[in-house]
Order: sequence, then C-alpha cells, then structure tokens
Amino acid sequence: MSRYVYVNGKYQIYKDSTTHVEDRGLQFSDGVYEVIGVWKNRLIDFSLHLDRLYRSMNELCFSSVPSSKFLSIVTREIIRLNKINYGTIYIQVNRGKSKRNHTFPDNTKYTISVIGRNGLSFREPSNNKGISAITLRDQRWDRRDIKSVSLLANVLAKQKALSNNSFESILFDHNNFVTEASTANVWIVNQNNELLTHPANNKILGGVTRKRIMKIAENLKINIYEKSFTVDEMYKASEVFLTGTTIGVKPVIKIDNYNISKSEIGFWTTKFKYEYMRFLDTIN
Ligand code: PDD
Repeated sequence: MSRYVYVNGKYQIYKDSTTHVEDRGLQFSDGVYEVIGVWKNRLIDFSLHLDRLYRSMNELCFSSVPSSKFLSIVTREIIRLNKINYGTIYIQVNRGKSKRNHTFPDNTKYTISVIGRNGLSFREPSNNKGISAITLRDQRWDRRDIKSVSLLANVLAKQKALSNNSFESILFDHNNFVTEASTANVWIVNQNNELLTHPANNKILGGVTRKRIMKIAENLKINIYEKSFTVDEMYKASEVFLTGTTIGVKPVIKIDNYNISKSEIGFWTTKFKYEYMRFLDTIN
C-alpha cells in the first residue's frame, strides 16, 4: 500500500513527495515539529502537542502559522489515508521558502509536511524490558524548550548511545546536573521515595508525556518534585525511567557501569507504565 503524506497543500504519495530546495527548514533548520502518538486511531494528547507547536512557532517569531482547525483536519486525514491504528504523526512547520538569506524573509508563508507512520514500539512485549543508558555532556543550545528541527546534538548523542550498545544518552550540564535524554525526559525515584524530574524550563523540552505522567502521579501516593538531580544522585536512585511519545514509560536498569534497582524494573516505574496504558485506553 502506498503511504500518503501531506506537503504544502497536497496529499502526495510518500515515495514521490517533494519540498522546495530553498525551504528554510532545509537550509537553516528554521522549523519546528511535533511527534504525536496514535492509539486505536485516536491522537494522544493532541491539544497539548498543538499548544507546544504554537509556542515553538511563537518563540521563533513565525509571521505565518497554520490554523489549529487545518492541522486537525490534515492530521486526521493522514491517519485515515494510511490506516493508522497504533502509530505516530510527524508534523513539521518551517518558516517558509525564499532565497537563502539569514534574516527572516518578508511575506513568506510557512511550509508544512505531515507524515503518518504505523507502529508504536512501546506496545510491543519487548518494551517491557529495562534499557541501558550512557551519560554524556549536554552540548545543545540554551533553548531546548523549543521543539526545533535543529537536532544535530541530539542525533550525535543518540548515535553515541547506539555505538555503546545502549538505548539512550542521558545528558548532563556543566555542574553535573541531568537535563534530559537525547529523545526523552528523565525521571528518578530517590531513596526517600520521591519522584524527581528536571523543571520544565529552557534547559529541557517540556514533554507532553512528562505532563501526562505528572497528572497521573498527582493521583498516586508519591511526592513529586520538578527539581534537577546530579548524575551521582541518579546512579544511586532506586528507580530511573524515561518518558516520551514513542517510548511511553521506559525503565532504565543500567547507566554507565551502574546497575539501577538491582537491574530490575521498580515498583513505581511499573505503576506509571500501567497507569499510562490505562490512560491511553480512555482517550477518545
Ligand atoms: N522527542 N526531550 C527530547 C529532547 C525529545 O526529543 C522528546 C521527544 C522528549 C519527550 O517529549 P514528548 O513526551 O512530548 O514526546 C523530551 C520526539 C518523540 C522525537 O523527537 O522523535
């Protein structure tokens, strides 16, 4: 079956799809994106993703942006055309196309692509296993709250994890405080049974899954702190897990040479995984 994508006003066959050679997304990474989960044909937390997309475009001073109604129609049409039951939607909006020049072009309309993909890895039974991670100095810019397509530092960090037979790189700043992972937010349960994750400021991407887990945590008997922690605190934590659209809640059982929670998946991680899946079954 051909896969369909939406590019600048047209639904196109995936393998034939094209964008302009002087799109600012291509030349300057002058664009923003969202990855949204699809669960039983339904979009997971779509409005939170739209809020973040508009925030990203606003922070980058886009002069033209797609309407939310339009985004909603195109996204749902891509789900329909590609028969996505469980999968992901990728939306990218760039500042537009114009002759290469660093400064913003005048009167240029945004460019957009929407891609749908079948398959959500965290539904697979293999996802129940804990993963290993390495730690790495965070080399990204200081506006990580913007979901920009400028992802080279994330790409290098993720590749470094792979070449070390690990799933993720957990990033830390110049004071050894953990920020997040290259494609996910990081959480620990410390020895006092407190749940900690980095505050949603300019040092991390404020994840939609992170927000959802915060909500779930409020209904469970655990104290939550949006507070940063050091790499050493993380090594000593009783549990560590990651959250993100494509991974859901992912247990971490080894970081560098340290086993976490005796290489087993902890009580709270199991609970959050379970509660997150329960939430997914309630969306409509
Ligand atoms: N990334 N932090 C970073 C750096 C990320 O790239 C992501 C997600 C997250 C988690 O955000 P959310 O819960 O909203 O998915 C945190 C997506 C999935 C990606 O780039 O593919």
